Amino acid sequence: MSGEVPRKAPQKAPQKAPMARLDRLLANLGYGSRREVGDLVAHRQVVLDGVELRDSGLRIALTPDLSARMTVVGQPLDPLAPLTVLMHKPLGVVCSHREAGRNIYELLPRRWRARMPALSSIGRLDKETSGLLLITDDGPFLHRVISPRSHIAKRYVATLDRPLTGDEAGIFAAGTLMLDGETDPLAPALLEPMGDREASLTITEGRYHQVRRMFAAVGNHVVALHRDRIGGLELPAALEPGAWRVLSAEEQAAIFG
Ligand code: URA
Repeated sequence: MSGEVPRKAPQKAPQKAPMARLDRLLANLGYGSRREVGDLVAHRQVVLDGVELRDSGLRIALTPDLSARMTVVGQPLDPLAPLTVLMHKPLGVVCSHREAGRNIYELLPRRWRARMPALSSIGRLDKETSGLLLITDDGPFLHRVISPRSHIAKRYVATLDRPLTGDEAGIFAAGTLMLDGETDPLAPALLEPMGDREASLTITEGRYHQVRRMFAAVGNHVVALHRDRIGGLELPAALEPGAWRVLSAEEQAAIFG
């Protein structure tokens, strides 16, 4: 016998769920003002684990399963923050509240426009660009995706007005291309022809109208543009234009994988 006492694997201390007052929780999810959600509670419209709640000042543990355990007016509670949505952005829709026209937030539940923290898109796609768009209320995640230091690749499929000449891949890969009005050359980008007038272009930056301006710089013109990948995350084939769903933790990790 060695006399050694077998060591127990170190136990991870169970993480304590953060707590929030019920009225603040519901107000921050967009269900109404603190007074309005107080009325919902008073009318027995908020149910937790099958029990009608009566006190809007009750402190609730914000566990990951809360949306499965709580209903509001008979419907499951909306997802808690942090929330990230994967959307197939359709053509003709803008990414900013400030731009005129229908915007991406109008494709989400109306109540979500009043969420705190607010949802915002991770980068933007032009009104006439379709494809994979992420929308989040998670600031650190947003910054990690858009930070130039993360080098997250974004892949676009461009349909062109004129046939490819064959020179584009070399020009884009060189890391020396200067766009009109800019002082820094573009980082190297990968062009893969898909046909006479179609190519995928993978870039790691997010400059204004970058893909359209890159093709303009080589004498072509983009007539249709679609983003199908961000990092290791592809736009799911089954997601129709305008459709969206909550991004899973695995999909979120795949972006950086
Ligand atoms: N490049 C563009 O030109 N437009 C987009 O929407 C995205 C990248």
